[in-house]
Amino acid sequence: MRTALFPGSFDPLHNGHLEVIETASELFDSVIVAALSNPQKGEPLFGDEERQEMIRESVAHLDNVKVAAFASLVVDLAREVGADVIVKGLRATSDFDYELQMAQMNEAISGLVTVFLPSASSRSFIASSLVREIARLGGAARVSAMVPAPVAKRLEERFPA
Ligand code: PNS
Repeated sequence: MRTALFPGSFDPLHNGHLEVIETASELFDSVIVAALSNPQKGEPLFGDEERQEMIRESVAHLDNVKVAAFASLVVDLAREVGADVIVKGLRATSDFDYELQMAQMNEAISGLVTVFLPSASSRSFIASSLVREIARLGGAARVSAMVPAPVAKRLEERFPA
């Protein structure tokens, strides 16, 4: 049984993330989506519980996907949950340098390999940071097609037009 771990901030989950999860769920027997809880990264827009809840609702159609939160090294979580690989999405070459460095560091400290999944070009511009910024400035409805419905609902509740 092959298990993939997909770690991220997911603040909030967007359609590019969902695409990675759906592809990983076809490629692996089981997928664990783990949302980082990191106070040093600054105050997230959505708290740990809410981010996990939104992910859970957004992946409800995928039987082999579980959701977790973590506040540790990703490689320690991987060992804890028995993951065989880390999965990450790549939107553009701008993601590559940082993701490659993290993949190499994680491999160096644990032997754990990272598998990269390219995002569809139609979604490669979507980023959680831009979704947050647009929603905060009154544009929640304009990004609703770029995030799963449970996320769109919460963004519109949080930032009514
Ligand atoms: O969605 P993000 O912000 O790009 O996700 C980054 C994340 C959470 C995957 C990365 O910061 C991470 O793995 N953090 C956990 C702590 C850790 O293991 N750091 C060492 C990375 S080499």
